[in-house]
Amino acid sequence: KIVPVIMAGGKGTRLWPLSRATAAKQFLKVVGEETLFQSTLVRVGDTAQYEAPLVVTNEEFRFLVAEQAREQGIALSGIVLEPVARNTAAAVAVAARIVADRFGPDAALLLLPSDHAITVDATYLASIEAAAMAARNGKLVTFGITPTEPATGYGYIELGADLGHGAHSVSRFVEKPDANKAEALLSAGNYYWNSGMFLFRAATIIGELERYAPEVMTAASEAVAKATNDIDFIRLDTPAFTAAPSISIDYALMEKTTNAAIVPSAIKWSDLGSWDAVWKIGETDADGNVVKGNATVHKTRNSLVMSRNSHLAVQGMDGVAVIASEDAVFVGRLDDAQEVGNLVKLLASDK
Ligand code: GDD
Ligand code: MG
Repeated sequence: KIVPVIMAGGKGTRLWPLSRATAAKQFLKVVGEETLFQSTLVRVGDTAQYEAPLVVTNEEFRFLVAEQAREQGIALSGIVLEPVARNTAAAVAVAARIVADRFGPDAALLLLPSDHAITVDATYLASIEAAAMAARNGKLVTFGITPTEPATGYGYIELGADLGHGAHSVSRFVEKPDANKAEALLSAGNYYWNSGMFLFRAATIIGELERYAPEVMTAASEAVAKATNDIDFIRLDTPAFTAAPSISIDYALMEKTTNAAIVPSAIKWSDLGSWDAVWKIGETDADGNVVKGNATVHKTRNSLVMSRNSHLAVQGMDGVAVIASEDAVFVGRLDDAQEVGNLVKLLASDK
């Protein structure tokens, strides 16, 4: 069986003001009745195919994780708590060590971000199957999404040789290119977006991290060896984990390894990273507006209008996001939605 590992320690600041320091994006109901973290759990809920998921998160999100899993009726293998955020390479390294210890070095890990909207259909299931096969053959498997625009927030993967059974080798991995480079990669035609999901054997990822990011792997192994367990919580050793460099798995490993594979896939996937993505995935009215909660629009087009609190009325706007949470309001252009991350930094420094 595959061991799902869910990364749920990010801050997701670009969905401000719905995402806050205390309630990161993955714990919000951005689309539908479940939070993004909960719909990630549901996706790996088939106990015939998957072991109980292991969640890697930050100390401060421990109750949100436990509570939302319980509400969803999904048992976890454990909740790994990071004392400080060290980005995804360290989170992956820790998870790989724990999975190898508990399930053996040959166990396959399905590494999942918790901030995506994905539809489970026949295409999705076939992609997982193809990836599992390549992973058994010792590959670090990625899932390729056909790019639609020169987005700068994603990794880009160049398709290499056909490995059979739906997988190809990766000839190049470029994480978050700047706008010019993204444009060039898009027009090259043989690049896919990295979905952010990965599948590999525990021994494969540990070996690769030892080779390309030894400081991360060493720190992670020590943090796991000295961890303290109470009930479902696995508390990593603070000094050992803090010593890990803060770097994402994409920069630390995927850009460097020669052992990656890609399963190009037509899965229904959206990274709900910013307000424009939420607008794109939402149900629009005749004027292209996505309106949610206590809100009314008039003479307004192509806009995202959401209120969690007081009545929000928007008139005469085009292509904007107006988002009201319990105690804050955001107004900004949808085509500039990536900037919210910088806006939040400004807000933090104003305090
Ligand atoms: N446990 C833990 N600790 N989880 C973390 C941490 C951390 O320090 N930092 C981020 N995460 C979680 C986030 O909550 C998210 O679910 C996942 O790891 C990915 O992190 P992001 O910060 O959202 O990455 P990204 O979106 O910028 O880029 C990644 O995903 C893209 C697709 O959405 C990369 O893999 C890109 O290559 C990819 O295209
Ligand atoms: Mg993301």
